[in-house]
Amino acid sequence: MVLGTVWASFNDVRNPIIIQGGMGAGVSDWRLARTVSCLGHLGVVSGTAVNTLLLRRLQDGDPQGHSRRALSQFPDRAIAEEILSLFFQEGGRNPGQPYKLSPLSNLNASLRFHQLSVAGAFVEVWLAKEGHDNPVGINLLEKLQLANLPAIYGAMLAGVDYVLMGAGIPREIPGVLDLFSEQKAASIKAHAVGLSSAPEHEDVRTSFDPALVFPDMEKKPLKRPLFLAIVSSATLATHLAKKSTGRVDGFVVEGPLAGGHNAPPRGPLKLSETGEPIYGSKDVPDLVAIKEIGLPFWMAGSFATPEKLREALAAGAAGIQVGTAFAFCEESGMSESIKRAAIRKWGLPESNTTDRVFTDPLASPTDFPFKVAPMEGTLSDNTLYQARPRICDLGYLRTLAVGPSGDFVHRCPSEPVADYLKKGGKIEETVGRKCLCNALMTNIDMGQSQKSGHEELALVTAGDDLAMLRRFLRGGKTSYSARDVLEQLLEDVKPAFSDATSSSVSP
Ligand SMILES: Cc1cc2nc3c(=O)[nH]c(=O)nc-3n(C[C@H](O)[C@H](O)[C@H](O)COP(=O)(O)O)c2cc1C
Repeated sequence: MVLGTVWASFNDVRNPIIIQGGMGAGVSDWRLARTVSCLGHLGVVSGTAVNTLLLRRLQDGDPQGHSRRALSQFPDRAIAEEILSLFFQEGGRNPGQPYKLSPLSNLNASLRFHQLSVAGAFVEVWLAKEGHDNPVGINLLEKLQLANLPAIYGAMLAGVDYVLMGAGIPREIPGVLDLFSEQKAASIKAHAVGLSSAPEHEDVRTSFDPALVFPDMEKKPLKRPLFLAIVSSATLATHLAKKSTGRVDGFVVEGPLAGGHNAPPRGPLKLSETGEPIYGSKDVPDLVAIKEIGLPFWMAGSFATPEKLREALAAGAAGIQVGTAFAFCEESGMSESIKRAAIRKWGLPESNTTDRVFTDPLASPTDFPFKVAPMEGTLSDNTLYQARPRICDLGYLRTLAVGPSGDFVHRCPSEPVADYLKKGGKIEETVGRKCLCNALMTNIDMGQSQKSGHEELALVTAGDDLAMLRRFLRGGKTSYSARDVLEQLLEDVKPAFSDATSSSVSP
C-alpha cells in the first residue's frame, strides 16, 4: 500500500489524521519524526531536554555527523562553532567518562543555557525536516516552563510547523509564538510555590529575548507554527480557546491510558488496591463540548487501532495521536536493548507475562501520575530504585519555590533529601520520587556515568496498551517499523477520505 498523506480538511485547514505523539526525552527524535512526516503524517520531535540531547550526541562523537550537519546550518555561526569546540568529542567518550553538563534551567537562566537549548531544538527540528516539505511538530511539557521558551524559539528558527504542549495550562504559548515570529522577546508566568502578596511576587515571569541571546544574528521573520494544546477535559479546552494570548489551532484530547505523564483524576486523589489513581466518569472528556468549540481535535491514549481511529473520527475528531506503538518501533530513539526486552515481554505470540503498565502516582517529581512499564534492570525495581544515590544534575523538573530565606529556590523532590528540606520542601514529598531526568536519558542510551561511579538506570514509560505491540509483529517478526504502524492503523480508513492528497516521500 502506498502511504500517501491522509490529511483531511477542517475549517479549510488541512489536518493530519495521525499525529505521532511527542515522546520525551529523545524517544520521538528527529529520525522517527522525519520518517513519519515523510510517510505523509505528522511527525513530532520531543522538545524535552534538547540541550542535553545535543550535548550528549556531540560528546558521543556524533558518529554519522547528523548533529554537526544541522549545526552547520544554525544561523548564529559563532555560537554553533563555540558549542562544537566545547562539547564535540571525536570518537566519543571513554567508557565510564561522565558527560559534561549544560547549565541548568533557571528563573534567570544563563545565556549559555538559552543558546544550547535553542541550538538543541534547532538541530532536532532541522534534521526532522531535512530533505522533504511535509510538516513537522515539536512537543513540550508546560511543567518544564523554565526550559520551554528557548526550545520554542530554536524550533521556530528551523521552521517548525506545529507546536504541541500538554502537562499544564499553556495559555500564554500562542502569544509567545506570535512574538517569536516577529523576532520579539517573550515571557510567560513562572509558577512558583509559596508566593506571598509581596510586590516582587506579584508577577514572576521567565523570559527569552532573541536580541539578548543572539545579538549578532540576522533576524528574519519566522513562520508562526500552528499550536495544538494537549488537554484532558472540555473545560480546559474551552478555557484555552477563549483565554489564550493568541490563536489556538486545535487540541489533542489525551486520556489516562496514554504513555508518559497523565493528567491527575478530578477531585481528591483516590488510589486503587494496586496503588494507582482511580479515574471515574468525571475524567471522561465531553467530546460534544469539545467539538462545539469548532477547532480540530485528536484523540490520544490507547487509540492505536483501526477501530479506535474510526471511533474517534465518528465522534468528530480530526484523527488520533499515537505514542506507545511508535515508541517501540525501529526508528524511535528508545534504546535498542529496551525495545527488544519490551517486545520479548509483551509483543511476541509466546509472550505470556501478567505484568502490566503501572500508573505510578509518585514517581514523577511533577505530581502528575506517570506510567511505568515494569522491566528488569530498571528503576521500576524497588531495590534498584532504593540503591540509587540521589543526585539532581539535569534539573528540568525542578519547581520554583520561595525558600526559607524568602529568596527563590529551585527544588526537586527527587533530589538528595537533605537539599530538598534545606530549600523548604517537606520530607513526605520526597517519598517514592524518581529522577526522571536521568532515567529518561538512559532510556535513549545517553545515561550518565556519575562521578561517583554510579551508572544511571532506565525507567521505561509506555501506555496501558503495551500488549498491542503484537499487532505489528505478525509472521515471526521481532521488530517493526513506523510504516508498519501507519499501515495497520489506516488499513481500512484511508479510502474514506476523498480529499486525501498523496505527498509521501521516501524516508
Ligand atoms: C515513551 C513515551 C514518552 C512520552 N513522552 C511524552 C512527552 O514528553 N510529552 C507529551 O506530551 N506526551 C508524551 N507521551 C504521550 C504521547 O505523546 C501520546 O500522547 C500518547 O502516548 C498516546 O497514547 P498511547 O501511548 O496509548 O498511544 C509519551 C508517551 C510515551 C509512550
